[in-house]
Amino acid sequence: AQPTLKSAYKDYFPIGVAVAPRNLTGPEAELIIKQFSSVTPENAMKMGPIHPEENRYFWQDADAIVDFAQKNGLKVRGHTLCWHNQTPRWFFTDASGNQVSREVLLARLKQHITDVMSRYKGKIYAWDVVNEAVPDGGESIYRPSKFYEIIGEDYIEKAFEYAHAVDPEAKLFYNDYNTENTAKRDKIFQIVKKLKDKKVPIHGVGLQGHWSIDEPTSQELEASIEKFASLGLDVQVTELDLSVYPKEHERRAKKETDDGILTEDMVKKQTAQYKMLFDTFRKHKGTLTGVTFWNVSDRSSWLDNFPVPGRKDYPLLFDQNYQPKEAFWQVVKF
Ligand code: XIL
Repeated sequence: AQPTLKSAYKDYFPIGVAVAPRNLTGPEAELIIKQFSSVTPENAMKMGPIHPEENRYFWQDADAIVDFAQKNGLKVRGHTLCWHNQTPRWFFTDASGNQVSREVLLARLKQHITDVMSRYKGKIYAWDVVNEAVPDGGESIYRPSKFYEIIGEDYIEKAFEYAHAVDPEAKLFYNDYNTENTAKRDKIFQIVKKLKDKKVPIHGVGLQGHWSIDEPTSQELEASIEKFASLGLDVQVTELDLSVYPKEHERRAKKETDDGILTEDMVKKQTAQYKMLFDTFRKHKGTLTGVTFWNVSDRSSWLDNFPVPGRKDYPLLFDQNYQPKEAFWQVVKF
């Protein structure tokens, strides 16, 4: 039989995929069941979608994903309990529209984490507890989010403590992007080291892995894995995709027009980059404990229209007809 992602990597780490309820029927569901061993809800467990009002939860989409995973023997990574994006306005304001106090926001955060994690307790093996708390540039270590501004830097440790109290079995992650930028990596390191030193229950760091055909290098990737592993933490790649547009180009892209046409050169570079990444991942067996792709196939990716409106991207291992690309074969044959 031909190798699949999950058969090829069964002695290494689970291979996951971000899913929405619409992916759970038809050819996409078949592909998920055949190729992957883990799923992450792409949006369904974020604060806004799952907790639209203070006293109302919307469980339907998250339930559907967890049920699908249970029926098909897939692990689930929970994503995400505390993030500055996709968080409803009510979270930070009282009935008269004024900003709430530190105490109120902490109580809401605790309630939210407790309600969401309790519902799926025992069914979710790892949670992204805090997502993207570090800004890309500048001097500041902490992103000036509402959580940071209202609570202070200890919102992070509080979130981990609340989460651990609900499900002591779940592996708790800090998750972020641009982790190969040395300045940002150092800031994340400072934060997680402080958590470890204070014995806060954190078990891993998630490298989102929204990379491209020309970054990161294997050295940059290994530096991230080794740096976080040196604290005794698991490392997982939690949101892998490789844009076919070069990183340097992306920085300037908002001003440029792009026709979204896939060239042979892009395909070749992407194939080589995927091979290099998985060669590196395998070297870190035991330390790297999961790799999750962000979306199923090139038919539909969150990078279509982002960061450049109207531009199609082709960042995954399966093409627009759900067929394995050459990069897939390079990843599974080793
Ligand atoms: C993205 C989803 O893929 C989109 O559907 C949504 O519109 C915005 O969020 N970092 C994260 C993910 O941690 O939650 C984001 O997911 C992608 C960037």
